[in-house]
Amino acid sequence: MSASLPVELCGLSLPHPVINGSGCFDAIAARRAFGDELLERFPFAAFVSKTITPEARTGNPPPRLWETPAGMINSIGLPNKGLRGFLEQDLPRLAELPVPLIVSVMATSREDFGRLVGKVAARPEVAALELNVSCPNVHSGLIVGEQPAETEALLAELRPLTAKPLIVKLTPNVADPAAVAVGAEQGGADAVSLINTLKATAIHPATQRPWLGAGRGGLSGPAVRAVALAQVAAVAAAVAIPVIGMGGIASGADALAFIASGASVVAVGTESFRDPAAGARVAAELEEALAKCGFEDPAEARGMALQSPSQSEKRLQTEEPIGRSAR
Ligand SMILES: Cc1cc2nc3c(=O)[nH]c(=O)nc-3n(C[C@H](O)[C@H](O)[C@H](O)COP(=O)(O)O)c2cc1C
Repeated sequence: MSASLPVELCGLSLPHPVINGSGCFDAIAARRAFGDELLERFPFAAFVSKTITPEARTGNPPPRLWETPAGMINSIGLPNKGLRGFLEQDLPRLAELPVPLIVSVMATSREDFGRLVGKVAARPEVAALELNVSCPNVHSGLIVGEQPAETEALLAELRPLTAKPLIVKLTPNVADPAAVAVGAEQGGADAVSLINTLKATAIHPATQRPWLGAGRGGLSGPAVRAVALAQVAAVAAAVAIPVIGMGGIASGADALAFIASGASVVAVGTESFRDPAAGARVAAELEEALAKCGFEDPAEARGMALQSPSQSEKRLQTEEPIGRSAR
């Protein structure tokens, strides 16, 4: 038996359900390194840009990375060229990618968020926007994505600015991510994506002081996968809009577990630093994993883990369990 991979996300037809996590694949640098071969064999079905902010940012002081036994902590701090630099320099190059472009934006006030969304969404090269809400609102002092009401109010303000899909990137650093997802949905979001990185730190072994220049950062990679699966399942059970699942995906079996937990699309983040072709590999492995479990396509597998045992009993003709990633 074989499986087919095409999926639809907010009106975008994708040949397979594997995209990149924002900030985890620099397509412009990759094109410099791999040339036009990158365009012929682009690893993702859609490309999500690094988060851009209204003004340029240099990012956090070094060191910015710490490797953990099963992942890494980063405190990159969103270095970027700002809205103007992005539109003038990066957007024309990202528009040459052979896949739909999703631009990730973040601001610290609703007005600035509105300016970003208005200007970015107006560009025909942009297929959709991802709103990174892991940031404080300068007026309330609250982290928007930690508060269902703040998230809903932000979306209500941004929704009228564009007909293009708005995806809300949720933070895992909350007790109830599903409540925030419901806020995003009620405000008019077209999809939610999760998880962003988990708050983490590392101590310098010689000085016993924080290793990272910024003191702390965000944990990603296989270390967060089990947390991400639980949060994706909770969110998928709470909202009707599509869920983009990510957090430690390194194989097709991992991707399938996220789809079974309710994700319509999955994103590969940290694994792309180890293997720049990981997106394509995960998609190919996903096809095999689906077929092995007797699923014809991702839609058939979606939400299996959320069903009662009697609902899901009918399926699963698999000969051997594939619940654990090979990596
Ligand atoms: C180095 C690095 C940079 C990141 N930059 C961003 C970013 O700019 N915007 C964003 O929303 N998420 C960013 N993320 C979070 C990832 O998109 C993803 O949500 C998270 O790493 C979990 O997925 P993973 O375990 O597959 O990496 C970054 C992650 C890493 C490791």
